Amino acid sequence: MSEVDPVMLVDYGPLQALIGVWEGDQGMDVSPEPAAVEENPYNETIIFEAAGGVTNAETQTLAILRYHQVVKRKANDQVFHDQIGYWTWDKAGNTISFSLAIPRAVTVLAGGTWQEGSDTLSVKANADGADWGIAQSPFMLEKAKTTAFEMAVTVKGDSLHYKQTTFLSIYGREFPHTDENTLKRVG
Ligand code: HEM
Repeated sequence: MSEVDPVMLVDYGPLQALIGVWEGDQGMDVSPEPAAVEENPYNETIIFEAAGGVTNAETQTLAILRYHQVVKRKANDQVFHDQIGYWTWDKAGNTISFSLAIPRAVTVLAGGTWQEGSDTLSVKANADGADWGIAQSPFMLEKAKTTAFEMAVTVKGDSLHYKQTTFLSIYGREFPHTDENTLKRVG
């Protein structure tokens, strides 16, 4: 963390709107099965916390949020997706980044440009991309490769909507694994 900016003085820019605790019960997951498509309605909680600022190479300054997303299948109330990571905002470079790590041993660092005044954060990553990338275990590379990822998050007041697509190469085919939900700020 930066030695200069106490958390309270950091300008979080477009990330400010995310800070808080969010809950949503309209989730829909579309995921792969060997010879079929699985659809899973879900509930979820996402916590975004202000995490201060960081300076890179004494030139780049990032504002940071850390988050934790917990997703439960409506059918049995069991957690079936758990994800952690950071959002960052580089004000001078007009750039946002979104990282994720999931227990399958897959990590993503997606990025994008934020348009001043926009209430939408859009990020992308590609396994073969030079800028924003994907790292995954040898097993996943061979059997269930994540080839690309994209997500758009829109916050309007206390309502947050996201849609994401995880492009998979699995079971001998290309599969767009999608997740979408609308959440309300509860804290
Ligand atoms: C709300 C978010 C998500 C939910 C609810 C979810 C749920 C699921 C489900 C139900 C499957 C089918 C296999 C199984 O039942 O375990 C699956 C497969 C998979 N997901 Fe997700 N997922 C989410 C997000 C992601 C993200 C962000 C990534 C990576 C960027 C990812 C990567 C994968 C991979 C690689 C598989 C294939 C592995 C397999 O089916 O054995 N998922 N996911």
